[in-house]
Order: sequence, then C-alpha cells, then structure tokens
Amino acid sequence: MSAIDGLKTDPDLHDYLVQRVGKSQLRRRLGIETEHVADKFGQGRTLFHIENWSTAASVIHFLLKITRMSARGKANVTDFCVRQNTVDLPHLPIEFDGFTILQLSDLHLDILPEFPDALAQVLKGLEYDICVLTGDYRFLTHGPHEKALHGLERICKEINRDTYAILGNHDSILMARGIESLGIQLLLNENIALERAKSSIHLAGIDDPHYYAADNLESAYDSIPDDAVSLLLAHSPEIYRHAAYTGFDFMMCGHTHAGQICLPGSVALAYNSSAPRFTGAGAWSFDLMQGYTSAGTGSSVVPARFNCPPELTLHRLRLVR
Ligand SMILES: [Fe+2]
Repeated sequence: MSAIDGLKTDPDLHDYLVQRVGKSQLRRRLGIETEHVADKFGQGRTLFHIENWSTAASVIHFLLKITRMSARGKANVTDFCVRQNTVDLPHLPIEFDGFTILQLSDLHLDILPEFPDALAQVLKGLEYDICVLTGDYRFLTHGPHEKALHGLERICKEINRDTYAILGNHDSILMARGIESLGIQLLLNENIALERAKSSIHLAGIDDPHYYAADNLESAYDSIPDDAVSLLLAHSPEIYRHAAYTGFDFMMCGHTHAGQICLPGSVALAYNSSAPRFTGAGAWSFDLMQGYTSAGTGSSVVPARFNCPPELTLHRLRLVR
C-alpha cells in the first residue's frame, strides 16, 4: 500500500497530519514517498542509496558468513558507547550552563528483536535534561513501521525527560502520529523555546533533508530571535552550509552511521552523504556554527558493526565568556 493509499483509509490520520504540517508539506512528502519508494538512484541529495539495494545486504551477509565474522558484527550492534561532547556558546544564558542533551540517532529499532531492550538497559544509567532523536526509527525505508514504533515505545519507558524528534530517510510522514502519541514532540520545520527561570534557548528541527528533501530551514528558524541560542536537529549533515548561514549555533545530526563497517582506526569506507568527510562523524564546525554527527545508536542495511561502535551522545552546553 502506498503512502497516499494508506492515508485514504484513515481520514483521522489525514486530518491530524494536515493540522501538524500543513496540506502542502503533507502532499509534497506523500507524493515523493509514493513516487520514489526505495529508489536506488537519483532521488534526494546522493546519487546512490545503498539502503534501498537489497543485493548489498545479501552480499555483506555472505561475506560476513564465509569469513565467520557475522556473530561478532551482530554482537557489536548492541555494544553501545556513551560519548560526551561539549558545546561552548558565548551567548548562552547562565541558567543553561551545563544543560545536557541526550542524542539518540538512527535507531532502526526493528533491526533485531533484542535491540530495544538492550538499549533500554543503557538508558537507565544516564542523566540529562532533554532527549533528542535525530531520525530513522525503521530498519527499511518502506513497508510496515509498527515494529519500529513498538521499539520506540519500549525505550521511551526509560527516557525520563522531555523528548524531541525529527524524521529521517527511513521514516514515513505516516509515522508522525504514532511517534507523537508516545509523548515525543516532533519538530518538522519548526522550533520550540526551552525555558529555565526567565531565560530561553531555541530548539529547531527539520524534516528529512537526505532522501525526501523535505527540509525547510527558513520555517524552522525565522521565529527565533537573533540574539537567542539556536540548536538544530537535522537527520543528515548535508545541509550544514545552509544551516550555518541561516544562523544556527549548533546542529545535531546523524545518518552517516560514521561508516558502520569501518577499517581499523575507525576509517569509514563511505558515509552515504553528499556532505564533505569532515562532517561524517563526531564534532565539527563550519563558519560560526558547531556541529555533531552521531555514529548512530542503531544500525542499518545489515545487523553488523566493525570498528565503529553504536553511540549515545551527551551534549553539554557551556557558557564561555
Ligand atoms: Fe538515514
């Protein structure tokens, strides 16, 4: 069933989505979802989409099997690491000095039945002020999404703070109501103010820029005061230049999985991104904007990681004079 057909059978969902993103954005997103289901070439910001090429997964599975590396690669999928990143901001309100954001990215929650429970165990021990999810909840880019949402529901039980999210290239706009029904606030080309005492900073999010090219930085940014600290959630780093010139202070993204299957020394073979390699993993900066690309909390294409552990990231905002 196509995205548009799916919506015809559920008028309540149609009305919900029109109210959330507006009829033009909804029609455009659904049109691309229907016309370009699992395209291997040409749609979006890269020429080729390995996640839509099932042969790639079969070949990698075969290679891992004959080299007897399948079990180790699979075990690495739940061998999480917690990374710390400090973001220095000279105009940060003092009330937000030390404010900590937990970023989970590219969860692909239906990759393995045991994945949500394994992640939930790690979440129990973390301390943070808000949680952000930077897209890709489903393993495939198309098809049913119920298992992914059940996995999301499982990990939400261990997230005890306000949670904000965006959609990635594996996510249908039809998932929006299910995600928000879990108490997660999606930011689809919009922003919200985070308040402490009488001060605030702004958190914005854009719809997927990688495959659906549904991002609108202007809508996400325009209502943010010029002197306010502005944070951006974007699924991929590919819009980094535009985000910097728009005026954002700090951008959190994912999508690249930092390569996922890497050579020793964490050398990525590919980032599946049209952005330059310096944006492929970890902290980076461009113009006046700081950025961070998560290596991904989950995994895609195949349930395997090498030399590239799945990560949960704690971003600590720091006031610097
Ligand atoms: Fe992605």
